[in-house]
Parts: sequence; structure tokens; C-alpha cells
Amino acid sequence: MFERGGWARRTPLIVAAGFCLHLDAGPSVHDLKAQYRFSCSQCHGLDGKAKGPGGLPLPGRVLADRAWLAKQDDTALVASILEGKAAMPGFKHKLTPEEAKRMLTDVIRPMARRAR
Ligand code: HEC
Repeated sequence: MFERGGWARRTPLIVAAGFCLHLDAGPSVHDLKAQYRFSCSQCHGLDGKAKGPGGLPLPGRVLADRAWLAKQDDTALVASILEGKAAMPGFKHKLTPEEAKRMLTDVIRPMARRAR
């Protein structure tokens, strides 16, 4: 009934193909938020305030700092995200330049606008 090479073996391939199609369409804001939680929040905090559970300080800089962020140029920040800066590793293996830019404009800048 379950011969080798049957349905169960092909399923991971189908799932992988679906994932590629999804990436081709470009990540949604939702995906970028998930990516932030996955790749960035351990250093910058879920809300960009570089605080962990119980207010524990995290190693990243505070991104949800409106005054600081307003003075920063998108191109320079995108370069830091892709290439890394000081203690921060680069993410060019995980994010395209377009994704890094949208991470900034659609996730990080709104986070700073919400912060008080
Ligand atoms: C290992 C911890 C760590 C992780 C993970 C991390 N960062 Fe950082 N990040 C830092 C530190 C530390 C700095 C401050 C670098 C400096 O200026 O000394 C920083 C700085 C930044 C800056 C400011 C760069 C600048 O030019 O001043 C941005 C934007 C940023 N991070 C975004 C991100 C994003 C987006 C991610 C996830 C894709 C991320 N970081 C993941 C530690 C981290």
C-alpha cells in the first residue's frame, strides 16, 4: 500500500515548491514581521526597545527611538542590515536588499512611530 517513492516521499518536494512560489511573490509585511521576530528580536527586542522578558537588556541598539531614527538615512541602515555593523552580523544571506529596505520601512520605522 505504501510503496517507496509514493505520496509520502513526494510531499516535502511539493511543500518546497510551494515555498519557492511564495518567495517569488515577495514577502508580505506579515512575513517580514515574522522574520524580524526570528532574526532580529533576540538582540533588538520584539518592540525594538532592546529589552527582553522582564526588561532584561538585550545586546542590540534601541531601534524604536524616534529621534535617532528620524536622523538616519535608509540607505545607510539597509547597508548595516545587509553587511552588519560592529557586534551585529550581516543578513545578506537571509534578506535581499529590497527585503532589508522593506524591513526598515514596514517593520522598524512603524515600530519607532508606535514607541513612546
Ligand atoms: C547579535 C545581535 C543582533 C542581531 C541578531 C541583530 N542586530 Fe541589529 N544591531 C545589533 C547591534 C549591537 C547594533 C549596534 C551596532 C553599532 O552601531 O555598534 C545593531 C544595529 C542595528 C541597526 C542600526 C545600524 C546603524 O547603521 O546604525 C539596525 C537598523 C539594525 N541593527 C537592524 C537589525 C535587523 C533588521 C536585524 C534582523 C534582520 C538585526 N538588526 C539583528 C545587534 C544585532
